[in-house]
Amino acid sequence: MTAILLLLHLLGATIWTGGHLVLAVTILPRVLKDRDVASLHWFEQGYERLGMPALLVQIITGLWLAWQKLPSLALWFDPGAGPIAELVRLKLMLLLLTILVAAHARFRVIPRLSPATLPLMGWHIVAMTLISVAFVATGLSFRVSWGI
Ligand code: HEM
Repeated sequence: MTAILLLLHLLGATIWTGGHLVLAVTILPRVLKDRDVASLHWFEQGYERLGMPALLVQIITGLWLAWQKLPSLALWFDPGAGPIAELVRLKLMLLLLTILVAAHARFRVIPRLSPATLPLMGWHIVAMTLISVAFVATGLSFRVSWGI
């Protein structure tokens, strides 16, 4: 079961983080340069159909994996419970940030998207991308120590 959960979690991570990296690194600079609101809408609408289910899979499999490692909510939030609990709390913090930034973009920024508000949208995309990379780095830290 753990292998299937990890497979789904990793597939979701490739879609969520990979999609944001493609958006931030290849599409966003062009959109900002050409003030091309239509292209951004086009990408967002297509990506949302895959990205939102991927995020949902991440949340379900992530909570499940965390429960396998520490089967007690009290331990997740106990500051003395050790490094695994710290990583679970970090993942939950990143999830909260993701929901806040995504909701602000979806309900406040995207409905009023225009050439003038494109830079604001750009900052949301950069923030989401950095958070999605932090998700991957935190996830890896359950298995490997960075030793830097
Ligand atoms: C978009 C969101 C997320 C991304 C991109 C992501 C990404 C990753 C990655 C790449 C790994 C490494 C897997 C491995 O070492 O084989 C991982 C592990 C893990 N993630 Fe996530 N994750 C996300 C959300 C979450 C959430 C919401 C939780 C819930 C607390 C969570 C809990 C875990 C746990 C417990 C592991 C360790 C699994 C293990 O080593 O057995 N993740 N994650």
